[in-house]
Amino acid sequence: MSERNDRRDFMMKAGLGAGVAGLGLQAAASLRSLVPNVSYDAPTTVKVGLPTDFPDGLKFLPDQRLFVFREGKTFHAISAVCTHLGCTVRAEAMSQPEVKEVNGLKTQLTHRFLCPCHGSRYEGDGRAVSGPAPRALSWYHLSIAVDDGSLVVDLAQEVPRDFRLTLA
Ligand code: FES
Repeated sequence: MSERNDRRDFMMKAGLGAGVAGLGLQAAASLRSLVPNVSYDAPTTVKVGLPTDFPDGLKFLPDQRLFVFREGKTFHAISAVCTHLGCTVRAEAMSQPEVKEVNGLKTQLTHRFLCPCHGSRYEGDGRAVSGPAPRALSWYHLSIAVDDGSLVVDLAQEVPRDFRLTLA
């Protein structure tokens, strides 16, 4: 075999090897792109501010779609997500607060909730009273962060309606 043929043979093999290696790298990169580096799920526990940032009464948190209620040192949180099709409900201040027993606990109700989408209405403790909403608004667990004393809501942890966080 001539030197020229050897050279052509070598160049063909080198080109073929580079092509196969390139395809392999591309396939590996494609497969890797299917595996996310990070979780895009929203965190379920969210710091929503220091307890002193919350006035007595109700504060709406639009990012979490949550109402946080404060009565002195006691807090509870009710979802603003309508249980019908997920619109954000609006809070309506009552002209006169009512004291009701909620799961055996005397509770001052200062607001009612109304869904602007299809008219569901909820009592101040989240119970559905009219409209297409199939169930009550969720209540979520609140706690205090050990590192900075912030109020923390866990949007994955529903609690019964007698849940209260009372600060020392
Ligand atoms: S989404 Fe609230 S009543 Fe339909």
